[in-house]
Amino acid sequence: MSRRTPLVTVMVNAAYKAARDLIRDFGEVENLQVSQKGPADFVSAADHRAEKTLVAELGRARPRFGFLLEEGGAIAGEDSSNRWVVDPLDGTTNFLHGLPHFAISIGLERDGKPYAGVIYDPVRDELFWAENGAGAFLNNQRLRVSARRALPTALLATALPFVARPRCPNHGAIVHRLAGETSGVRRSGSAALDLAYVAAGRIDGFWGYALAPWDLAAGVAIVREAGGIVTDVTGGPDAMASGDVLVTNGHLHGLLREALARRDD
Ligand code: IPD
Ligand code: CA
Ligand code: CA
Repeated sequence: MSRRTPLVTVMVNAAYKAARDLIRDFGEVENLQVSQKGPADFVSAADHRAEKTLVAELGRARPRFGFLLEEGGAIAGEDSSNRWVVDPLDGTTNFLHGLPHFAISIGLERDGKPYAGVIYDPVRDELFWAENGAGAFLNNQRLRVSARRALPTALLATALPFVARPRCPNHGAIVHRLAGETSGVRRSGSAALDLAYVAAGRIDGFWGYALAPWDLAAGVAIVREAGGIVTDVTGGPDAMASGDVLVTNGHLHGLLREALARRDD
């Protein structure tokens, strides 16, 4: 059983409050699909509204902490050790198209390192959370990464870059190759949920390039508490700084690092 700490309770309450508006707005998006104007402006407003709610709730509970916000940027706090890293809506494109796969992601960095995380999927009412040393949970159930050790049985996920990235010119070829060597490669459109799913053992490994701190902060804390490993794609420790990440159940880390390094030409 889980015992949520006061810190996690603050994060969960903020996520639940922002989710109420998001879910209502998501219902509205379906109606807007058929309108001339389309839902893009509406979704951007929903995104900003969710962020405003999160800042208000987190700021009220911990007034000295700083913020790194996807929409609002960095806000320094009096307490320089603690910083919220927030993505109010991860999976915007899914949301915009009425595809019910998106999440609110709230990470807490302590002294520059991921310390706690909450990822809330309001459609499925799945709350993934963790705090350093306290374990990782889905709602009230303890999370553990999968035990798979061989690529042919592994299910992977990736985040396709929106534009060709010089850091990974052959991403498409790697996806193609790994799709043939594993049980498959998914592209869900929500990196936060991809990390949560590695923690839950639903996915065995995830990699992506040029991801932002707010895509990763909460998920990194959750995966590590669930027994998984997060590095950059070369196996180095600087995953958050580069945004080029490899996230696995641990057993597959070496195999996947090698697979990503292999050239296809
Ligand atoms: C995006 C999602 C997506 C990833 C992109 C992110 P957003 O976040 O996490 O899975 O591939 O790189 O930007 O824009 O929906 O918050
Ligand atoms: Ca995001
Ligand atoms: Ca976002």
